Amino acid sequence: MIKRFFDWLKQPLGLIAVGIVFLALFSIAAYGLYTTQQSPEQPIQFPHKTHVAFGIQCLYCHPGASKGPSAGLPSQAKCWACHNQIQKTQTSALLAPLKDAVLSGQSIEWVPVAIVPDFVQFNHRAHIAAGKNCEDCHGDVSQMNIAENPQVMNMGWCLNCHVESAGEDQEKLVKLTDCGTCHY
Ligand code: HEC
Ligand code: HEC
Ligand code: HEC
Ligand code: HEC
Ligand code: HEC
Repeated sequence: MIKRFFDWLKQPLGLIAVGIVFLALFSIAAYGLYTTQQSPEQPIQFPHKTHVAFGIQCLYCHPGASKGPSAGLPSQAKCWACHNQIQKTQTSALLAPLKDAVLSGQSIEWVPVAIVPDFVQFNHRAHIAAGKNCEDCHGDVSQMNIAENPQVMNMGWCLNCHVESAGEDQEKLVKLTDCGTCHY
């Protein structure tokens, strides 16, 4: 039975079938990759582009990035400090959910875009201190409307940059590629 199946696979029709299966698997994988890089539905369609164009710094809204592991997201009080004084806030449909959240005191449940699993230790501060910019890992957020993740943040991605950053420095290379540096 199995031998007959393999014989059949070698026939032209079998080869076409193999091709179709391969293409199907490849498109599923490609689609999976594509969806992880799309922006998710957010409770508010927060436009980064508009805010950065007004000259608001990344660290004003994500101050944790230079201080510790997590960059953090701004509270609605921080949004409201500005929006309370902006005329458009009263009329914009895009801002209605912000007004509702402030009035009801409910926090806004943002959907994570850039995330690594819990068993990975990532620390923003170390990277900012080493001179890395937000764009190096998050892409050009100043041109994005709803935040999207331009890269797959997997182990190979981390290691690539670590090997590159270490250069000729063997001691650094050992430290930055040691399992215990990122998993403990
Ligand atoms: C430093 C001031 C400032 C802060 C802080 C701020 N915004 Fe804004 N926001 C603005 C300005 C200015 C505009 C543009 C208003 C205009 O077009 O008239 C804007 C526009 C917007 C718009 C688009 C509105 C529309 O109808 O086009 C949304 C949505 C928005 N902000 C949400 C937020 C949220 C959510 C937060 C908090 C995470 C926030 N903003 C924090 C100043 C701010
Ligand atoms: C006015 C406040 C504000 C400014 C300025 C701002 N952000 Fe954000 N950022 C937000 C809010 C609110 C969210 C959550 C909504 C979302 O993910 O779209 C967010 C989400 C993000 C995310 C995705 C986080 C996640 O949950 O995975 C990244 C990455 C990011 N911002 C980077 C930046 C960078 C880089 C800059 C500067 C170029 C910047 N932000 C400027 C408010 C701001
Ligand atoms: C070396 C790569 C790298 C750099 C540089 C970097 N980030 Fe991140 N960022 C990440 C990774 C990885 C995550 C996911 C972390 C997690 O899930 O614990 C993340 C998550 C985030 C988040 C959402 C979760 C959180 O940490 O609160 C925000 C917001 C963010 N980054 C903003 C910024 C800003 C703003 C800058 C520049 C000041 C910056 N990042 C620089 C890699 C980076
Ligand atoms: C764009 C380049 C880049 C990427 C991407 C990157 N790193 Fe790093 N990482 C660095 C540099 C540079 C250092 C600091 C090296 C030094 O000590 O000078 C560093 C240091 C670290 C350290 C040591 C921190 C400390 O306290 O000394 C950890 C842990 C780390 N990275 C985890 C990660 C993880 C996890 C990822 C992927 C999710 C990642 N990094 C992605 C460049 C990068
Ligand atoms: C620079 C940071 C970094 C270093 C060093 C590192 N890892 Fe990882 N590791 C990650 C990240 C990020 C993930 C997240 C899983 C993914 O999406 O690839 C991960 C995932 C894993 C997983 C789970 C794989 C999966 O498919 O879920 C295992 C197992 C693992 N690492 C083992 C190791 C071992 C063993 C070493 C040492 C040889 C090591 N890691 C070194 C960052 C690192």
